[in-house]
Amino acid sequence: AFHNRVFSGVQPTGNLHLGNYLGAVSRWVPLQDQMETIFCVVDLHAITAGFPDPATLRHATREVTAAYLAAGIDASKSIIFNQSQVREHAELAWIFNCVARMGWLNRMTQFKEKAGKNKENASVGLFAYPNLMAADILAYRATHVPVGDDQKQHLELTRDIAAKFNNDFAASIKELGLGVPNPTPSPETPEQVYFPLTEPMIAGPATRIMSLRDGTKKMSKSDPSDLSRINLTDDADAISKKIKKAKTDPDALPSETDGLKDRPEADNLVGIYAALAGMTKQDVLGEYGGQQFSAFKPALSDLAVAKLSPMTDEMRRLMGDQAEIDKVLKDGAERASAIAEPILKDVRRIVGF
Ligand code: ADP
Ligand code: NA
Repeated sequence: AFHNRVFSGVQPTGNLHLGNYLGAVSRWVPLQDQMETIFCVVDLHAITAGFPDPATLRHATREVTAAYLAAGIDASKSIIFNQSQVREHAELAWIFNCVARMGWLNRMTQFKEKAGKNKENASVGLFAYPNLMAADILAYRATHVPVGDDQKQHLELTRDIAAKFNNDFAASIKELGLGVPNPTPSPETPEQVYFPLTEPMIAGPATRIMSLRDGTKKMSKSDPSDLSRINLTDDADAISKKIKKAKTDPDALPSETDGLKDRPEADNLVGIYAALAGMTKQDVLGEYGGQQFSAFKPALSDLAVAKLSPMTDEMRRLMGDQAEIDKVLKDGAERASAIAEPILKDVRRIVGF
């Protein structure tokens, strides 16, 4: 059977924001005690939307690592490393470029969002990004991936790639004795498979945090407006200013979650409060239903500052000790390679290299 293993990552592109924290990193912390956990700073992905200045990229890689550590990812419980230091990611991605079909990638909505109007000028890497993400996960034969809801479509593609590889190479996998019994057998699928069909872990009140300026767009590092997101490096003043300026409607908060349905901005702020407080949205409305945003927003600011500032302080301390961060990344890369190398050795034999 497949060994339970978690893989996830964040790009080192600019500031980490509340969406990355609530949708991803904060959810990883409890998993560390439940299974083997691998958390990657995905720097190969960070060049798909244009190469950042090299010094900026190096700085951002350390900053994301510091955020992982400050948020409670523990290098003695988890493997923490940056993607570019384990060459198996790139090697498997090339093989997956030849497994995935153009039609599959043409359907990816994130490419359409990130490429914008000028698709002809997007990098080939941005288009093929989901294949690299599949390689990130499957280079460890990871069984579980905790991500935000925005990554759901990419995870489905990862499963499609794993299934096609398992099918296309069924005879080779069997002949080399490299498969494991198919955990979900059916007449159409082989008895022995090499890659697991990785499960997404997406749950809770804040699976998709939206922009503070536009409740229909996700909070993102690439949004040009800094007022659209709360960065993990923001101080208390910046956090309260952004929440104060957050777009809302003129109505009071409803007393039931049904009342949030056509009010994306209100829904988002209530969701953020719920996630930060470890409550359900209904609990939050139980407390604030009937109140105006002028009362709710200061409470939300106070909560956000209280939750985020210890982390911000710890990130700042860690950023002052580059050697400690670099050591975590180096050890992590060695431990990650020790898992990925034998898997790529198998894959090479399965394919015929
Ligand atoms: P971004 O989309 O800001 O560039 P990444 O692609 O590096 O961020 O995403 C890193 C992780 O953060 C992923 O697991 C992703 O699902 C999660 N994430 C990013 N934005 C959000 C958001 N607005 N709400 C919830 N989760 C998010
Ligand atoms: Na662990």
